[in-house]
Amino acid sequence: MPLRQVTVKAPATTANLGPGFDVFGLALQRPNDKVKLTLVPEGVKIVVSGLSAAASATQPEKSPAGIVANHMLREFSLEAGVKIEIERCIFPSVGLGSSAASAAAVAYGLNHLCNLGLDNRELIRLAAKGEVASAGSEHADNVAAAICGHFVIVKSYKPLEIVNLKSPPNMEVCVAFPHIPASVNKTRKARSVVPKLIRIDQLVHNVGKAAVVASGFATGDVDMIGKSMLDAVVEPARAFLIPGYLQVRENALRAGACGVAISGAGPAIIAVANNKKVDTAKVAAAMKEGFGSAGFEATAFATKPGGGVSIVEME
Ligand code: HSE
Repeated sequence: MPLRQVTVKAPATTANLGPGFDVFGLALQRPNDKVKLTLVPEGVKIVVSGLSAAASATQPEKSPAGIVANHMLREFSLEAGVKIEIERCIFPSVGLGSSAASAAAVAYGLNHLCNLGLDNRELIRLAAKGEVASAGSEHADNVAAAICGHFVIVKSYKPLEIVNLKSPPNMEVCVAFPHIPASVNKTRKARSVVPKLIRIDQLVHNVGKAAVVASGFATGDVDMIGKSMLDAVVEPARAFLIPGYLQVRENALRAGACGVAISGAGPAIIAVANNKKVDTAKVAAAMKEGFGSAGFEATAFATKPGGGVSIVEME
């Protein structure tokens, strides 16, 4: 019997990890979105429930899920349509890869439903098309992490090449974001402040730090990862967009985190900690307090790196 319906679980992701702008991505164990795909005779229909459902784009050409679905139906000449039901648990517009999760889930789910036989690299290429809806560019760091799980390095965009490494078992990621109204086109705005040209000393700094972050994943050394999550280019240019940025950073480090970075385009901030040495609930609480000192309520929690998209139900 051919499949008619699949439900895919897709993880939140954090991108950049300091020096790896558009290159590093990390999948988180939670939160996850659930995306149910049902084959229908024609067209793409999107229904969103859960967090910020009312504010979510459901026109296929404006939503990451719809863009990916339309693209795949066309590219593979599929004589069908798809209904996409997104149950959103990943806080949207905070820098935790909510659009990447839907895009990755659609690419992965349609691949199964229609027996396309695509590999991860192809799925990432297709899912990255969905990022244009929110970011204005096909950056692949979040979608690659959502598909592969754990740590990814986008080694090259043309051609698309990805390196995927497991995370150290004692690594935790504390996440905090302020409750500020999501600005329209938040990611596009955060990308518009990224410098177009950089100095050679900034290049030297970022290449060194990025190499050590990657070495930390390769050798399973959480302190090495955290201590090199330092960016001399993008993060300094974006910090002003995040109220309490400096205080959150300082509080997390004081509570024992080994490194802090803006999560993707923000405003979420992540702190990496070694759970053998540090109480990560305290790090998360300290980050929340940091936003509080700037006058903002915040959500904060600790999680671990996790796996990529998976099928949770099919019929
Ligand atoms: N690398 C991207 C950025 C991630 O920082 O703009 C956006 O989610």
